[in-house]
Amino acid sequence: MSDVSAPSRPTVTLKLATSLDGRIALANGQSKWITGEAARAEVHRLRASHDAVIVGSETVLADDPELTARIDPMPAKQPLRVVADSRGRVPASAKLFSTLEMGPVAIATLETMDLERWPSTQGLQFWMLPAGEGSGSVSLIEMMNSAKRAGVASMMIEGGGQLAASFVRAGLVDRIEWFRAPVLLGGDGRPCLGELGLEQLELAPKFTRTGVREVGVDLWESYARLV
Ligand SMILES: NC(=O)c1ccc[n+]([C@@H]2O[C@H](COP(=O)([O-])OP(=O)(O)OC[C@H]3O[C@@H](n4cnc5c(N)ncnc54)[C@H](OP(=O)(O)O)[C@@H]3O)[C@@H](O)[C@H]2O)c1
Repeated sequence: MSDVSAPSRPTVTLKLATSLDGRIALANGQSKWITGEAARAEVHRLRASHDAVIVGSETVLADDPELTARIDPMPAKQPLRVVADSRGRVPASAKLFSTLEMGPVAIATLETMDLERWPSTQGLQFWMLPAGEGSGSVSLIEMMNSAKRAGVASMMIEGGGQLAASFVRAGLVDRIEWFRAPVLLGGDGRPCLGELGLEQLELAPKFTRTGVREVGVDLWESYARLV
């Protein structure tokens, strides 16, 4: 696994909202809602405390999220909402695009993509990126460089499991904010983290717990990466 030191790039928080057994959706994609209202309110506060939030294209296709920080009072500035959409699969009808008046959106896509497929609207920016090594998806290292150029100092990953695993594999996750609901979804549910391809236990990314709180019926655990 490569490691990119935190000072030269935005810090990265991985937010997970899972069942007790670490699932983020049923096999059929249903995911609303696993955690309770109190945990979801905390997620909105976490969004407001980051410069950017990011999701994978499959999450937009499955859930069509707004990804705005909806707290009372509303934050002075919304986080930049980033979608990793290498192949331009997110439709122009996505809520991300119909809520641009609330805050900006960045599409991280392959540099070979034709921009005409997206609405040309104020507040929408494009990060045209090369593919990652051995991958057909955008390079996360280049994406972090684009984020930095856009003034992003902190970014929160909001899923799904494939995008989260890519960040972990690249050694880019500094903190984890894990909301765990007292429910079991089973091995056929979708995992919060895709494959890491580990062959030796000692190579597993390690974290230290920095906090545990009860939030409504759920548990909120915080972790920081051990370097
Ligand atoms: N419980 C929760 O809080 C929660 C939160 C989020 C999602 N979910 C659920 O999770 C499911 C979606 O998760 P998922 O794991 O299937 O998909 P995902 O991680 O949301 O999206 C995966 C897609 O992201 C794109 N991508 C772009 N750059 C990437 C990179 N460097 N590495 C990896 N992917 C990259 C890829 O498509 P391209 O190559 O086309 O770009 C890839 O297919 C849905 O069912 C959703 O409901 C639940």
